[in-house]
Amino acid sequence: MDFSAQSNISFIKQKIGDLEKITDQDNPYTRIVFSKKFYEARSWLKNEYQKLGLIVSTDDAGNLIGLLKSKTNTEKVVIIGSHIDTVPSGGRFDGIAGVVAALCVVKHIKENDINLPFNLAVYDYLGEELNDWSISCIGTRGMIGALNNEILSRSNSSGEILKDEIDKIGGKSNLLTKPFSIIENIVACLELHIEQGKVLEQKNIDIGIVRSIPSISRFSVEVNGQAGHSGTILMDQRADALVTSSEIITFVNKLALTLAKESNQHFVSTIGKINIHPNAAAIIPGKVEMTIDLRASSKSSRDQYIKELEKQIETMNQSGPCKIKMKNIAFAPYVEMDKELVKLFKVSSDEYGFSNIIMDSGAGHDTAHLSRVAPASMIFVPCMDGLSHCPEEYAEISDVSKGTAVLFKMVEKLANSNQN
Ligand code: GLV
Ligand code: MN
Ligand code: MN
Repeated sequence: MDFSAQSNISFIKQKIGDLEKITDQDNPYTRIVFSKKFYEARSWLKNEYQKLGLIVSTDDAGNLIGLLKSKTNTEKVVIIGSHIDTVPSGGRFDGIAGVVAALCVVKHIKENDINLPFNLAVYDYLGEELNDWSISCIGTRGMIGALNNEILSRSNSSGEILKDEIDKIGGKSNLLTKPFSIIENIVACLELHIEQGKVLEQKNIDIGIVRSIPSISRFSVEVNGQAGHSGTILMDQRADALVTSSEIITFVNKLALTLAKESNQHFVSTIGKINIHPNAAAIIPGKVEMTIDLRASSKSSRDQYIKELEKQIETMNQSGPCKIKMKNIAFAPYVEMDKELVKLFKVSSDEYGFSNIIMDSGAGHDTAHLSRVAPASMIFVPCMDGLSHCPEEYAEISDVSKGTAVLFKMVEKLANSNQN
């Protein structure tokens, strides 16, 4: 069944355009999980599912599902999806491109009355982006039983408890400690995403077929000094939490630079979130909270980094004026995509004549969690200047459309190989 990249362009453009309007107006493009705008976008998506004749439901982890049931009586399922939440001032394509592509694939299947030998489920995975509860990929962690009580009981800065928010959106937070039964029936989990890096654009390649996704470790760091008068406390009498924090920031960056060079594999570390207390110009900072975000493909480099960082903090605790506490708050392991699905994505892309490469992801994705329990794989499409997690994020609709065609071809191929 022909499904040319061209025929999808107007549909994809329109749906991405619809979603980009559902943003915090002062801060485009912002649609933080559980916010009013997020609920609004979910209503929009529910409506899109209904227009396509899909059965709409919310699973226990709060994922929004649109199900196209096979005419054959089967429990088998292929999942296609991504996420519609954003980071603050994030973009119009991260996650969104994948959900819209999935809608487009279903539209084509419905319009052409294609019967699949499996159910096809479109997923908006709940809260993929890192949020104020310091946990990303809520929906997929929930599906695989990786949300424990400590995480579910966390409060955000407004005092809202994560499990309450999951329940409010339709999930069942008391049922998230073991893998969902759907997992046994998954034939494949497929995700289209913008690359969020520069490889495809620089090499002028249409499709990146993902081979691996790096581990992600996050640490909270709390630096406790002593607040005091900025005019009276002399320089050698201070316990300035921000000054100590700046030493940690520099150390983290330098160490990551060294290990990235040494390991020759993906290795990056960032401190992008920092709270200073009391954050006033005439007061010596008494307390600082920061989050370290570490992504590594090599376990030994990750272990070495953590060891050296812990040693540095111990030294600073012994000799410096402030007390530093570091705690691991989130972890996702390094994963490889299903090899058969990677091959099938390559064949699907080749058949359209789209240039493609096998590549490693730098970002984290819901598919990383699902790949721990089921066959899963994803493709990337190019994005402008590799920019993402910023308002400038942009992808050509024609590029998203090519990826969508490959996604459809993949579903078609899985259908052919799963006929009874
Ligand atoms: C996902 O957006 C990530 O932070 O990698
Ligand atoms: Mn994403
Ligand atoms: Mn993201």
